[in-house]
Amino acid sequence: ARLVVLISGSGSNLQALLEATADPAYGATVVAVGADRDGIAGLDHAAAAGIPTFVDSVKAYATRDDWDAALTGHVAGHRPDLVISAGFLKLVGKQFLDAFGDRYINTHNALLPAFPGIHGPRDALAYGVKVAGATLFFVDAGVDTGPIIAQTVVPVLDDDTEDTLTERIKVAERAQLVDFVGRLVREGWTIEDRKVRIP
Ligand code: GRF
Repeated sequence: ARLVVLISGSGSNLQALLEATADPAYGATVVAVGADRDGIAGLDHAAAAGIPTFVDSVKAYATRDDWDAALTGHVAGHRPDLVISAGFLKLVGKQFLDAFGDRYINTHNALLPAFPGIHGPRDALAYGVKVAGATLFFVDAGVDTGPIIAQTVVPVLDDDTEDTLTERIKVAERAQLVDFVGRLVREGWTIEDRKVRIP
């Protein structure tokens, strides 16, 4: 299966996928990595692995719709079976969702529907919850609202800071991403009434 991975940051989730896909039994390869900004470590990882990269920065386009069209075109050019947002910090638009809405997944560093948005671990700590975690889900038009594929729980410790909790979540998040992307591409899936089933 062909994976296109979208990133905005350090790309540790991407790196975990690259390691997993090195084994042919995994059933997928990363055929391209896209980003919404230059100068991020994830793009260097991809380039070092010989994978084509592209950058579509919102501010390079006159309108958000133009950006959405460009991103959709670049991703489509790589004919992905699955598109993975791995710390991609932009909400895609209608054109992208029309093209890939049935196979665009995102990993979030909180147990949805609690703590959507870009500060999951910080918001979880501030709320005082005793468990946190990561959620893998299919992206829909909302913010972190789509059908859930998998969730992994990690404890919140009394002496946690935003950094320590974020790191604990990321370890679980990477393992979950690698595990479930593999299952999705090898086994397929159905979605009915928001319920994602992997046969
Ligand atoms: C992930 O924890 C994701 O949930 C959050 O940003 C992080 C991406 O990290 N939105 P990386 O770029 O894969 O290291």
